[in-house]
Amino acid sequence: MKITIIGTGYVGLVSGACFADFGNNVLCLDVDARKVEMLKAGSIPIHEPGLDTLVTRNFAAGRIAFTTSYDEAVEHAEVIFLAVGTPPDEDGSADLTHILSAARSIGQRLSRPVVVVDKSTVPVGTADAVSQAIRQELDRRAARIDFAVVSNPEFLKEGAAIEDFMRPDRIIIGSNDEQATKVMRQLYAPFSRNHDKMIEMDVRSAELTKYAANAMLATRISFMNELSNLAEALDADIEAVRMGIGSDPRIGPHFLYSGMGFGGSCFPKDVKALLKTSVDHGRTLHLLKAIETVNEAQKGVLFEKIARHFGGRDELYGKTIALWGLSFKPNTDDMREAPSLVLIHQLLQAGCRIRAYDPVAREEAGRILQATRAECLRSGQLALVASSSEAIEDADVLVLVTEWKEFRAPDFGLLASTLRSKAIFDGRNQYDPEIVRAAGLRYYGIGRRNPWTNQ
Ligand code: UDX
Repeated sequence: MKITIIGTGYVGLVSGACFADFGNNVLCLDVDARKVEMLKAGSIPIHEPGLDTLVTRNFAAGRIAFTTSYDEAVEHAEVIFLAVGTPPDEDGSADLTHILSAARSIGQRLSRPVVVVDKSTVPVGTADAVSQAIRQELDRRAARIDFAVVSNPEFLKEGAAIEDFMRPDRIIIGSNDEQATKVMRQLYAPFSRNHDKMIEMDVRSAELTKYAANAMLATRISFMNELSNLAEALDADIEAVRMGIGSDPRIGPHFLYSGMGFGGSCFPKDVKALLKTSVDHGRTLHLLKAIETVNEAQKGVLFEKIARHFGGRDELYGKTIALWGLSFKPNTDDMREAPSLVLIHQLLQAGCRIRAYDPVAREEAGRILQATRAECLRSGQLALVASSSEAIEDADVLVLVTEWKEFRAPDFGLLASTLRSKAIFDGRNQYDPEIVRAAGLRYYGIGRRNPWTNQ
């Protein structure tokens, strides 16, 4: 099938490469000429395992191409995916400027029937707005051309996006148009061969499904984070509780991990946007508000533990803290809403020195911190170093912030002899407290049973 993807960000590029790999003829459009040049030259602007190989292979085979030209992009397509960004507005609602501008650009050029697909995460009602924007442009040219707008939200996890796209749990097709549904079924048939993964519904339900899925996952995380704080007070262990409840098939084991709070480009933004939608429609989602509040508080929990370890905030001044991991989760260089940023700001504020290491997000972290903490980077109060061992040099304590594989089995003996204050703060509950303690280190986790954390 001939597909155009508008927007070569994370979702657009992954979708385009995967469709191309299944034999479709894909043209990706971006208004950023520099990005398009980079892509044509074989350079992938984001870090996603397997994506560069996939793009290169399909580019060489002529199944994926890149352009900045809307004329070319609209002319090419039987199906047009909208995968442009929907950043949050100041009030938390999703900013639809890019989506609607893409819709108008389509309407200005459309010369034959097409299915337009909302792939970006957009508020309920956006498909109608897109439809209206296209219709207005067609009317302006007095053009009578059939088109349908459907909603087909993505459920891609960063770091596992290719796998998620190629082997989806479900493919949601929100459509109020029979012919468009048929086209979408045909397009996705190869991804849904052995079991029918496609779930058809009306457009608005599909739009709401995406928010509901992310809000539900965020709910589980905030619930466990809140419970982990209670577990500490009760001298119970959240990891035992997690396994105890996760084995109930009605609950299931996923997304029950306590940690430093959820980050990333989706959960925080989608929770905010859904809250805004609810307010706009005269409904208050009390639970959702609490999920956000708990998450914000959770990002500060580790700082409080570090301060307590040293005997209070005032004692933090001049201490050197090693951080392992900066990205919001492993296998990505994405720093959006990363809990590490909150911790870094708190530690710098308290006068700590920081030595931080991340396997891939060093450059991205440097870029972001340059904007807010340039002085600390210049003075060396904040150092982004090149290895995990460099991070612990001259450090008082170690904080595990992101659970990259390479941090899973450190040499605790070496850590005990290196860290001046002999303590590990495990923000992801990765380590066995007994093993850490046996090496002569204090262990602080999130909701772990631990004689020290509860003081
Ligand atoms: C998420 C959804 O999973 C995906 O379906 C959607 O399309 C986009 O948003 P992503 O943001 O890439 O994907 O990351 P995910 O793996 O879901 O993790 C989100 C955040 O929750 C991370 O900060 C992670 O550390 C945190 N998390 C996740 C927990 O704190 N505990 C858990 O048990 C799981």
